[in-house]
Amino acid sequence: MSVQTGNTASPLAPEWLAVPEDLNALQEPMWARTVERNDDGGLAVAGVSVAALKEQFGTPLFVMDESDFRSRARAFKDSFDAAFADICGGVDVYYAGKSFLCTAVVKWVEEEGLRLDTASGGELAVAARAGIRGERVALHGNNKSDAEINRALDMKLGRIVVDSLAELERVGAIAQARGDRAKVMLRLTPGVHAHTHEFIATAHEDQKFGLSMAEDTTGQAGLSAAEEAVAAASAHPGIELLGLHCHIGSQIFEPDGFAMAAEKLLRFLAAMQEKYSIVMPELDLGGGYGIAYTPVDTPRPAAEIATAMAAVVRSTCAELGIEAPRISIEPGRAIVGSTTFTLYEVGTLKTVRVDAPGTASDGGNNVTYPRRYVSVDGGMSDNARPVLYDADYSAVLASRTSSAAPQLSRVVGKHCESGDIVVRDVYLPEDVAAGDLLAVPGTGAYCWALSSNYNYLARPGVVAVRDGSARLIVRGETEEDLLNRDMGA
Ligand SMILES: Cc1ncc(COP(=O)(O)O)c(C=O)c1O
Repeated sequence: MSVQTGNTASPLAPEWLAVPEDLNALQEPMWARTVERNDDGGLAVAGVSVAALKEQFGTPLFVMDESDFRSRARAFKDSFDAAFADICGGVDVYYAGKSFLCTAVVKWVEEEGLRLDTASGGELAVAARAGIRGERVALHGNNKSDAEINRALDMKLGRIVVDSLAELERVGAIAQARGDRAKVMLRLTPGVHAHTHEFIATAHEDQKFGLSMAEDTTGQAGLSAAEEAVAAASAHPGIELLGLHCHIGSQIFEPDGFAMAAEKLLRFLAAMQEKYSIVMPELDLGGGYGIAYTPVDTPRPAAEIATAMAAVVRSTCAELGIEAPRISIEPGRAIVGSTTFTLYEVGTLKTVRVDAPGTASDGGNNVTYPRRYVSVDGGMSDNARPVLYDADYSAVLASRTSSAAPQLSRVVGKHCESGDIVVRDVYLPEDVAAGDLLAVPGTGAYCWALSSNYNYLARPGVVAVRDGSARLIVRGETEEDLLNRDMGA
């Protein structure tokens, strides 16, 4: 049995992972726009070096490029406004706060002309603290509490997205008791479910969200849960029915699924308007636009998606002879995901040897291949996505460049959990050593937001960098934060 070394592709690597020509290069769509290498080889964002960030804020650290966030937010707003200008005068873009939320981000969102989508009372509290006007905020959730509904009404939210008939009755009753009318959109499941490059145009009813558009879902022949809700909402004195909503999935690259859902909802909207003699002036097509986590991911520019969706909305409305509703969308990941990388310090390193079938030149014998485990000072508590969703990430050596050979590596965290993986497969320079800094791009969305205190690790801070200066927008937790809810013996 032979032992493989050197810089050829490892058979232990997944097929999609190529050995990079230059291990020091920052592959384009994965990184925020101002991230580059300094003359000394270290990474810098908006002119601030990772060495300086580590010195001032420590690691692990979420490093966010503020101007990149702003330009991605504006790109959505401008592209969708342009594509839909002749259809419905533009589009309302609700930034999905669940992807990453703090008061600074709410302010950026407002300054760039976007609105805010929230999914809980806690997210509403952040919105309130940031001072965004309630009319520019939406509230989601499949199990809203009465307190959350009351808070939404107190804040005079622009829309409450209602998820079920029971919730519709509750929102209506609460609003009516207050002498109010809740502005409501109905979340429907259009039977289009998309993920990455594929979308499945079959009923995707087996999930917790939304009102089914499939007929007979009410037990009454021909009546869908969606129609039952439209009828109930339009007759309820405590409800102002604004329109319909759907969200077909996440990390979607191709626009076809969005277009198909738009067409389906428009046909339903037209049918309901006619049947119940009502007007539903708004239609929300949700979020889910994909980003690059690895070099093989191919996200589409916002303008391309907007043009494809506008074409379908334009032609469907013309065919149905209806005035187009005001369109809105809810991107989260595609605005914040690529703005941020996580900075880690390398600690323990270990190389294991794994047997795998050799090539023809190995005479059909097994060959032992090396895989190096690179432990960093965070892990599944600051990025749960690899564990939760099998999500792939990438990484580069951030504190310096290296001309060493590539070695297949697995970046792992420091938790007491063998599944604690940050980057499952990546080629890193062979000479990566304890004390080096690593940067993992694409961690702006659903990483800090999903972070935990597993093993009593303090959650990292989030630093925003802009024009050569860095400031904390969320401070990292301290040991005191970790202990101060422990009530003692
Ligand atoms: C209703 C709704 N809107 C918007 C989003 C944002 O999705 P993304 O961050 O993928 O754009 C989500 C995410 O789960 C969602 O559930």
